[in-house]
Amino acid sequence: MKLDSILGYLESKTILVTGATGLLGMVFVEKILRVQPNIGKLYLLIRASDANSATYRMRNEIIEKELFRVLREKWGTDFESFISKKVVAIPGDVASAELGVKGFELRERMCNEIQIILHSAATVDFNDR
Ligand SMILES: NC(=O)c1ccc[n+]([C@@H]2O[C@H](COP(=O)([O-])OP(=O)(O)OC[C@H]3O[C@@H](n4cnc5c(N)ncnc54)[C@H](OP(=O)(O)O)[C@@H]3O)[C@@H](O)[C@H]2O)c1
Repeated sequence: MKLDSILGYLESKTILVTGATGLLGMVFVEKILRVQPNIGKLYLLIRASDANSATYRMRNEIIEKELFRVLREKWGTDFESFISKKVVAIPGDVASAELGVKGFELRERMCNEIQIILHSAATVDFNDR
């Protein structure tokens, strides 16, 4: 598949990303936002106790990283509104039922909207259950 057609395919798509605070997921999030700004939305499933904590982790551990400098410079003063429009942090845990996503309405919305899943949540701790 050519790059053009990949970018075309991603236009207006809504993607669920797990492991976005990790190396691979974070690089994916930055690249998608940079090369296809017309992406629909990115839902980032992040381990956190509630939506505020998930959003805090998203900002602190992903968006504010040096990796996003090019994107920040490209969008300038519109960077924050671009991110708010495109990226949504969802508290969850892939090891839990329903991915740990609380609230029937939110789960329904995600099920209806999400077209692609990038699953990069992982652990290399061999003592994990
Ligand atoms: N890095 C590479 O060069 C590379 C190359 C090829 C393949 N891979 C594979 O790609 C995957 C990701 O690698 P990585 O290097 O990005 O790993 P990583 O930096 O260790 O990131 C792991 C991510 O998974 C999340 N996570 C772990 N358990 C979770 C759970 N129960 N629920 C939700 N999120 C959870 C972590 O979230 P927290 O921040 O909450 O811990 C973190 O965001 C792995 O399967 C790895 O084998 C990696």
